[in-house]
Amino acid sequence: MDSQQLHPMARTVASTQSEKTEIVLPNDTNMLGHLLGGRLMHFIDLTGAMAAYRHARANVVTAAMDHIDFIRPVHLGDLVTLKSSVNRAFTSSMEVGVKVWAENTRTGEVAHVASAYLVFVAMDEKGRVLKVPQLKPETPDEVRRYEDALRRREHRERERARRTQGKLAVAALAAELENRS
Ligand SMILES: CC(C)(COP(=O)(O)OP(=O)(O)OC[C@H]1O[C@@H](n2cnc3c(N)ncnc32)[C@H](O)[C@@H]1OP(=O)(O)O)[C@@H](O)C(=O)NCCC(=O)NCCS
Repeated sequence: MDSQQLHPMARTVASTQSEKTEIVLPNDTNMLGHLLGGRLMHFIDLTGAMAAYRHARANVVTAAMDHIDFIRPVHLGDLVTLKSSVNRAFTSSMEVGVKVWAENTRTGEVAHVASAYLVFVAMDEKGRVLKVPQLKPETPDEVRRYEDALRRREHRERERARRTQGKLAVAALAAELENRS
């Protein structure tokens, strides 16, 4: 990556890094005493938004959450720690990576339990999309994530186009069936 092309206002990944720790309470669990997937997704969304807010310094909305792998269950009483940072900023959108660990409070064992990528879009006070600063990756890992984020964006765009085509085809078929009846 040519850092010369970056705007002087570009922000570092470190300036976006965010962290949140929660204790898993009975209300957060299913019958087996495992943290509910939806509750974990909520924590992921919030922690991802923190990094996006730090980058954009503006309102942000969640535009997309990529698939999440729940690698292993999180148990009642565990401490869940989530860490996020911006992987890449585009025009008004940012890809944020969130990684989640669970800590058994009795044994101290810590395990990676989930990871996710989310896209946030910056908005002004009137709800119009807002341009965000560029991101400046500094370490080899940050450069790798920066480059991978572009590939994931291209994949998301292809998927969105495919879904739109699918919806148009269904609408056209429905209209044709309506005309026939
Ligand atoms: C996300 C949203 C603002 C995009 O609006 P839009 O009219 O499609 O805006 P644009 O076409 O100008 O796209 C703006 C950016 O969003 C990105 N985007 C839009 N839809 C997206 C999607 N489904 N996945 C990933 N990125 C998306 C575009 O790629 C673009 O990025 P860029 O500016 O960096 O190139 C709009 O769909 C929205 O408000 N969605 C609801 C958000 C919400 O309520 N979230 C939950 C609560 S926070």
